[in-house]
Amino acid sequence: MRPTPPPRTYRVKSFGCQMNVYDGERMAELLGAQGISPAPEGEEADLVVLNTCHIREKAAEKVYSDIGRIVKDWRREDGTSPLIAVAGCVAQAEGEEIMRRAPAVSMVVGPQAYHRLPEMVAEAAEGRRTVETDMPAEAKFAALPARRKVGPSAFLTVQEGCDKFCTYCVVPYTRGAEISRPYKDLVAEAQGLVEAGAREITLLGQNVNAWRDDTNRGLEKLIETLAAMPGLARIRYTTSHPNDMTEGLIEAHRDIEKLMPFLHLPVQAGNDRVLKAMNRSHSADSYLRVLDRVRAVRPDIALSGDFIVGFPGETDAEFEDTLKLVDAVGYAQCFSFKYSARPGTPAATMDGQVAAEVMDERLQRLQAALNRDQLAFNQASVGKRCTVLVERKGRHEGQWLGKSPWLQSVHFTGEAAIGDLVEVELTAAGPNSLSARLLHPAHA
Ligand code: 5AD
Ligand code: SF4
Repeated sequence: MRPTPPPRTYRVKSFGCQMNVYDGERMAELLGAQGISPAPEGEEADLVVLNTCHIREKAAEKVYSDIGRIVKDWRREDGTSPLIAVAGCVAQAEGEEIMRRAPAVSMVVGPQAYHRLPEMVAEAAEGRRTVETDMPAEAKFAALPARRKVGPSAFLTVQEGCDKFCTYCVVPYTRGAEISRPYKDLVAEAQGLVEAGAREITLLGQNVNAWRDDTNRGLEKLIETLAAMPGLARIRYTTSHPNDMTEGLIEAHRDIEKLMPFLHLPVQAGNDRVLKAMNRSHSADSYLRVLDRVRAVRPDIALSGDFIVGFPGETDAEFEDTLKLVDAVGYAQCFSFKYSARPGTPAATMDGQVAAEVMDERLQRLQAALNRDQLAFNQASVGKRCTVLVERKGRHEGQWLGKSPWLQSVHFTGEAAIGDLVEVELTAAGPNSLSARLLHPAHA
């Protein structure tokens, strides 16, 4: 590759989970600290970071088509294109392969190594291509700059990696073993986020409820500390594993007012044979019992989950068990996916791979049931009074958008500003959002 002038502008495009969104923000901060500015909307950037997701096939393939598009659309008069960095889980999984397949890429950086991005950018400008896919995560966090400017709702990665090895999942290979960031670093980062304007913090981790400090205290301890921070109004956490839902964390939903009544607890399937083949280490029944315990302490909790249809060997009858579980829970919202064979995972070579048409049909039936329940949950909220954290302006004059405590999107018109926590009455519900009447502005 030939040398180019050092980049002056960047764009980070994040795909996939919220942890990638967090990583994308941190990469932007790192580049900002080097004096590189975000490219204005619609304008070409000198440096493009594709922060990729490897969880399903489509997500991974998208990277190569995106690279092709950047090269084609943004070739300059002198024949050069922007510097391209591939980050995230595709970078980790494919490493050198990306360099071979995509000559336009000059940096490949895994999710645990992106603190090295500034050096890599300097090398790329000199015409050198580099691959960084080291796994230890601790070095990364220590090397990142302080948080400066954030919206009212901010992410904070507290835990990374996964030791569960569900047989369909690439995460244990791309994000590595479970590690918990130290308590004091997290408290300091949370404080920084609050000072930078965050009113809500969502604690993130692939198995966020597996977080432990060095004296083995669980996530509820961290939540309790954050709840005592003046200025911070709301705390959430995601994503959790059913087996790590401890009594302490469940009780936090009763005892800590700032902990929002929302739990994302993936189950994946409703049939025990399938769950076993997935290596989920919980049954449908033990999962439902966890939800019972949570509902006992926080009856209004909004429940959310993830589902996979068409896992290898899943029969029609086994899929029906998933629908039964959905009926039994009454979810407020969910994510559901067709099984996607990921190279290197045990399920990819299992017998009984399910035909695409069968998966399509199962996904449609599942989503119809989930949409029905989501609408019912939203409709049942009509008439309730609650707070809304205002996140942005709506499409219409004087309209605002924000989130209810139950993570529903809510719109209302009236006197408000981004970052306000206002009191509303929910007045009407659709499948994806609710409208509300402003009771009185609660500027804080
Ligand atoms: N195929 C389909 N869905 C998957 N997920 C993880 N791996 C796969 C796969 N191979 C889903 C799971 C997980 C969510 C983040 O993505 O439901 O909870
Ligand atoms: Fe993947 Fe299972 Fe770990 Fe979740 S718990 S990240 S699905 S291996």
